[in-house]
Amino acid sequence: MSNLVTLCKADDVKEEAPISVTPEGFPGLAVYEFEGEYFVTDNLCTHGMAMLTDGYQDGEEIECPFHGGAFSIKTGEATAFPCQIAIKSYPVTLEDGNICIPAAE
Ligand code: FES
Repeated sequence: MSNLVTLCKADDVKEEAPISVTPEGFPGLAVYEFEGEYFVTDNLCTHGMAMLTDGYQDGEEIECPFHGGAFSIKTGEATAFPCQIAIKSYPVTLEDGNICIPAAE
């Protein structure tokens, strides 16, 4: 029995074009590609009501569209002011070309 949740096809995610997904039981999530690897974080900025997928991916950082704050797409760590609180990041598993994360408990 799989305890993974499928978010999307890996082919749907391109570097600098993260996509928004809303799996049941999770907050809105952002899925990113960086140098052939995939990463998943919460999509809502911790500084305000902005969706990070509306922002700008710059390498391994995502810049919020509102006030120029940024986060690491790898760890969720806040990397630029005014963001100070990390966003949650999720471990990614690739299964049959799909991007998956562990099921919510
Ligand atoms: S809402 Fe994201 S930096 Fe302010």
